[in-house]
Amino acid sequence: MPTPQPPRPNRRRWLAAATASLAPLAWPALAQPNTAASVLVRRIPSSGEAIPAVGLGTWITFNVGNDPKARDACAEVVRAFFAAGGRLIDSSPMYGSSQPVIGHALAKLGRPAALLSADKVWVGDVSRGIAQMEASRAFWGVPRFDLMQVHNLLAWEEHLPRLLEMKAAGRLRYVGISTSEGRRHAELERIMRTQKIDFVQLTHNLLDREAEQRLLLLAQERGIAVLVNRPFRQGALLDQLARHPLPGWASEIGCDSWAQVALKFVVSHPAVTCAIPATSQVAHLRQNMGAALGPMPDAALRERMARDVAAL
Ligand SMILES: NC(=O)c1ccc[n+]([C@@H]2O[C@H](COP(=O)([O-])OP(=O)(O)OC[C@H]3O[C@@H](n4cnc5c(N)ncnc54)[C@H](OP(=O)(O)O)[C@@H]3O)[C@@H](O)[C@H]2O)c1
Repeated sequence: MPTPQPPRPNRRRWLAAATASLAPLAWPALAQPNTAASVLVRRIPSSGEAIPAVGLGTWITFNVGNDPKARDACAEVVRAFFAAGGRLIDSSPMYGSSQPVIGHALAKLGRPAALLSADKVWVGDVSRGIAQMEASRAFWGVPRFDLMQVHNLLAWEEHLPRLLEMKAAGRLRYVGISTSEGRRHAELERIMRTQKIDFVQLTHNLLDREAEQRLLLLAQERGIAVLVNRPFRQGALLDQLARHPLPGWASEIGCDSWAQVALKFVVSHPAVTCAIPATSQVAHLRQNMGAALGPMPDAALRERMARDVAAL
């Protein structure tokens, strides 16, 4: 009689265990309160899948070329990301060597099952889109991407139907579109109103609040998940704030750094699914992931945070 073997870990089992340990998922999808011990998770409206509210961007920070030491340093950032309960990593063919560097990190870490891979298609000649996505997939070393976004709305009318076909065929799990720094918001709004997208990616932070006027509310109405890029204005916001002491209210929401203040401002907005700060440093990564823990500001405190920061 063969000896019974323990069940092999697989992605579904891992996710069930991971999400069970992440947070009290019985919360309403957009709940604000968060206990000290649990990572804030948000549900992707189109599927109900829960993901941690802090992810990882890779523009510039992971564009380190072929230098083995620099690639290994990025792998350590990715290791710390998964160790802190992270899941969503965002990249693009526009980000130089970032995709192969992610692939190097994932291979080194034994391909963490928790990964939610988010990449982009970024080419004006749509006939080259499939080849570009295939090259990106090979760099990451994943069987398929979870989320594919049209980068900066480039040729979105042509790309989007193809991405939706790929989703229908099971070659992607989610389809989205990205912009940043407030560009083409009117067109983005039109896409959100008329297209069956799962995700939108846009800029939102303590100083860049335009998305709050219409797009975040529309995302809630239409059941579209929101990824937030440039939560630190590519680092400039933190450089500017570093000269000032933390305000008294920072400790009320469990923040011991400006980075956590900036991230809590973003992820506490009920329409936001996941912020994707980028970093090249493990210490910064840990600080950033800490923003998904502890109490979150309510709407009144978010207003005060933005007002106080704008006045500095
Ligand atoms: N159109 C688009 O689709 C689009 C546009 C822009 C961005 N994005 C995505 O969004 C991601 C985030 O945006 P971003 O990279 O422009 O900028 P960001 O996340 O706002 O800022 C990144 C900068 O902040 C610094 N930083 C990170 N954590 C820190 C901490 N705890 N303390 C001090 N400094 C810290 C990093 O430096 P260190 O390395 O020293 O930590 C880095 O220079 C991108 O990486 C990309 O994935 C997409």
